[in-house]
Amino acid sequence: MSNQSLEATVDPELVNKWIDEIGSGVPAAVPLLQAIQGEYGYLPRDAMDMVIANSDINASQLFGVATFYAQFRMKPVGRHLVKVCHGTACHVTGADRLNTSLRHILDITDEEEDTSANGSYTVEDVACVGCCSIAPALVIGDEIIGNLTGADAQRVLKKHARGVKEELLGDEAAKKKKEKEAAKATASGEESRA
Ligand code: FES
Repeated sequence: MSNQSLEATVDPELVNKWIDEIGSGVPAAVPLLQAIQGEYGYLPRDAMDMVIANSDINASQLFGVATFYAQFRMKPVGRHLVKVCHGTACHVTGADRLNTSLRHILDITDEEEDTSANGSYTVEDVACVGCCSIAPALVIGDEIIGNLTGADAQRVLKKHARGVKEELLGDEAAKKKKEKEAAKATASGEESRA
């Protein structure tokens, strides 16, 4: 399954309603983008095109605003979001380790990607979530969880996946992982016999 299937279907009436209510000039760009992202979780290209076609905001103005602010994302988001805090306290206590560990278990190997291939989870870097005393921390669902090692982060993710009945890996990735583990087991067996 490709992340393409996470692309939202945009409702033109809704986009036009936001333009009517919020405004059609450049100052409305940020609140319009916030409304779109609030509805779809990211900024679908179709919604952006509708704003450009039906307002006084041109493409370079709208995309300029969308790419300037870190709050906006241009890519679809997975069915569940894990926010890894990268504020100063979390950064110095191992936020990168959490991130690497989560990406590893979700088999997200492409640096440009932050969502698992089966669309289950997106791992996003965020600024301080306000719980520095339990750094490093992450947010999953409504819960902030802290004092985590990389292994803890994987445990937290697995527990969440069990709770929401979500597969961490798609079929292909799970098969690839099993093959890798089997090859590793064979290699270490041969080594110990040598
Ligand atoms: S820096 Fe992570 S909670 Fe504040």
